[in-house]
Amino acid sequence: MCGIVGYIGHRKAYPIVINGLKRLEYRGYDSAGVAIANGSMNVIKKQGKVIELENEAKNHNTHGTICIGHTRWATHGEPSDRNSHPHASNSGKIVLIHNGIIENYDTIKAELIGRGYVFHSDTDTEVLVNLIEDIKIKNDISIGRAVQLALTQIIGAYAIAVYDTDRKEELVVAKLGSPLAIGIGENFSEYFIGSDASPFIEYTKNAIYLEDGEMAVIKPNEEIKVRKIQDGTITESYIQELELNLEQIEKGGYDHFMIKEIHEQPEAVADTLRGKVNLKDSKISISGIRDNIERFKNANRIIIVGCGTSWHAGLVAEYLFEDLARIPVEVEYGSEFRYRNPIITEKDIVIAISQSGETADTLAAIKMAKEKGAFVYGVCNVVGSTIARETDAGTYTHAGPEIGVASTKAFTTQITVLAMMAIKLGQENGALSKSRVKELLKDLQEIPKKIEETLKSEEAIKEIAKVYKDSPNFLYLGRGYNFPSALEGALKLKEISYIHAEGYPAAEMKHGPIALIDEKMPVVVIATKKGYYEKILSNVQELKARKGKIIAVVNKGDTAIRAIADHCIEMPQVAEELSTIISTIPLQLLSYHIAIMRGCNVDQPRNLAKSVTVE
Ligand code: AGP
Repeated sequence: MCGIVGYIGHRKAYPIVINGLKRLEYRGYDSAGVAIANGSMNVIKKQGKVIELENEAKNHNTHGTICIGHTRWATHGEPSDRNSHPHASNSGKIVLIHNGIIENYDTIKAELIGRGYVFHSDTDTEVLVNLIEDIKIKNDISIGRAVQLALTQIIGAYAIAVYDTDRKEELVVAKLGSPLAIGIGENFSEYFIGSDASPFIEYTKNAIYLEDGEMAVIKPNEEIKVRKIQDGTITESYIQELELNLEQIEKGGYDHFMIKEIHEQPEAVADTLRGKVNLKDSKISISGIRDNIERFKNANRIIIVGCGTSWHAGLVAEYLFEDLARIPVEVEYGSEFRYRNPIITEKDIVIAISQSGETADTLAAIKMAKEKGAFVYGVCNVVGSTIARETDAGTYTHAGPEIGVASTKAFTTQITVLAMMAIKLGQENGALSKSRVKELLKDLQEIPKKIEETLKSEEAIKEIAKVYKDSPNFLYLGRGYNFPSALEGALKLKEISYIHAEGYPAAEMKHGPIALIDEKMPVVVIATKKGYYEKILSNVQELKARKGKIIAVVNKGDTAIRAIADHCIEMPQVAEELSTIISTIPLQLLSYHIAIMRGCNVDQPRNLAKSVTVE
């Protein structure tokens, strides 16, 4: 949930780290801090966003070639200066930054207090740094060894960086359950660390992603050796060549990451399709499916697990897999699935959907499913993320980094991957004819262009946003493939504009929610031509009869809905199976513009963080 950054080498370290923290703020922004080694250990930390820290640092000495930094999303201890990281040990010699949760911190804290340690914060992290100091002093060992022994006593999750003024030319890093990337400079002359690669991408494209239970003592001009925390043995780790480049990170001329990412969707979906769809031969090549095709063909059931927007993508996938591949599917919230003791067999396939690849509830659900013998397939966006590495196989969405907390291009690329998987499986098990496959692949190939076309309605959507930006409630309705799109539209509005919104299957209105309809209730209705159009039309008439304000997402050229709706947003015609990818675009734009007009922070909405790596 937090972001960690570090540098050790020959450059001025502070500018690299403070810049890196700004790029990681999407992971949490309650407080931020840095520790700079310049003779002694200079710790500067501040509640609030990184800019607060930067302003405070102007009054301090920020020289030095070693620096670690942290941006926090509070789990233990409310956001405050004293609870900010880095945390120093009682002697002040050791400083530590931590992303994760230590579940047994209270027992360890009690023992340390019993041995005379004092604590200046309410955090679990301060316990860890003093446990390391205690072990180091008692055994008279190096910081690397002390960290290793301390971590064997820890229950929980962590990505940490530790600096000890007694070992001036090294940084210790370790990982379990939270992400940690190590950027490697030319000839190992310098090292960077980050919760992802964005803090160091302009310096090096070579990185190692530590696996769970691994650590390293990093020294400039020495080749990194990754070890197992459990017994200190050296492990094989491979240096990845990263695809990320800087302008993908920066806002690229847009006001916010979210609107940039909404407009990136044509390219993102094209990247997702690239190299997988061969229209001429009606072929789809997805290596994760190809390498496990028999397992998929013999599967009893597919269980899809995800949270939030990824769970909505799972609902779309349920329609896709059952409709196109005739495979029974159920969709589960990660947080519910992990605790309800489900019946899972070796003949079940679990598909875990996650943009960040770090969502704790989804990760825990995967681990539980694997323990019960299921084969787990991942659909993730972050290369090298924990979920990507925990699953047995998978497909990356290749949406590029999604910085805005509200998921947009991740959702449309997830559905693109899931649609390709469903078509592929329908082709393999004979559920789809050759001509049907050809038709679907042609529609799929046209999606990027159709997203471009749909984005052109942004100005019209802005006008609608002006009318309804102060509405206290919204309803979103859809049927079939577009019921999940209605849920997703409601979530987008809630999380960035703080307006209450609910998504419903349109036919459900008569079972209660229609009592809410009056002239103050805007109702967004997705009314695509091929999606039970006549049924939706009568739903809209029922709403109109009760003075509801209708904002309808319709296909180009629609007349019947247009005649009764208060506002229409046009989208191009597309195969109903793929219509969610298109119908979600106007809903993303509507929520973005309403949120902007309400002065909300769309990239970092209150109370939220980009990846929820704690329960
Ligand atoms: C969606 O806009 C939210 N940011 C949130 O619901 C998110 O989809 C959820 O936390 C799951 O995240 P993941 O896809 O990274 O696992």
